[in-house]
Amino acid sequence: MAEVLPASLHVSAHPLVRHKLTLLRDERTDSKTFRELVRELTGLLLYEATGDLKSETIAVRTPLERMDGAKVSTRIGLVPILRAGLGMVDAAVDLLPRAEVWHLGMYRDETTHTPVSYYNRLPPTYHDDLIIVLDPMLATGGSATDAIAVLKEWGARWIKFVGIIAAPEGARHVSEQHPDVAIHVAALDRELDANRFIRPGLGDAGDRLFGTVQQPSEAPSPLSPAS
Ligand code: PRP
Repeated sequence: MAEVLPASLHVSAHPLVRHKLTLLRDERTDSKTFRELVRELTGLLLYEATGDLKSETIAVRTPLERMDGAKVSTRIGLVPILRAGLGMVDAAVDLLPRAEVWHLGMYRDETTHTPVSYYNRLPPTYHDDLIIVLDPMLATGGSATDAIAVLKEWGARWIKFVGIIAAPEGARHVSEQHPDVAIHVAALDRELDANRFIRPGLGDAGDRLFGTVQQPSEAPSPLSPAS
């Protein structure tokens, strides 16, 4: 029987997302292309995730006449989780140029697989309407769950998580702890392995973004070159 997915989980079905994600997964994709693909995927996923932003009506004069236009009125804060979430920031501020960016630093302990917080520069006062957490990977979901808890403690009431891939375990964990937080990803992968890596996955997003990993093998790929 098919597993019931959390109601808060939104997996993109867009062909462009699936195409770009396939290139991203390819072990031969170098850091430069990986960064470009993360950026492109982030834009597409954010487009889907921001369909419920609030707007106000404003007047605009076209070269021909005056008309009612729209201006997004939702105040947005972007919270990338260091370090891999940094790869998603440029695309996010391109799309949401008035958004504020607040950083949280977390890494996953390699032995316990639990998140360790090492950086938090949230200001004392919370004043945005919506916080969008950015992190390409949702593995156990520990990092996202802890980050969201910190944001709620700060005062955030409307929070979305935008990532690239999730393991079912991670999506379930976040949705159980924070059922009010919408999770937007490009794909829900098969499982976590014994090391809590997402399978089939795409490797370590932070390492691949920042070139801190061995170059991929020279094995031929069945895929056509990156477009
Ligand atoms: C990765 C990823 C997430 C976290 C996901 O970060 O970017 O933050 O692990 O794992 P979880 O869902 O099990 O908590 P990592 O610890 O590799 O740090 P990095 O971003 O600095 O590479």
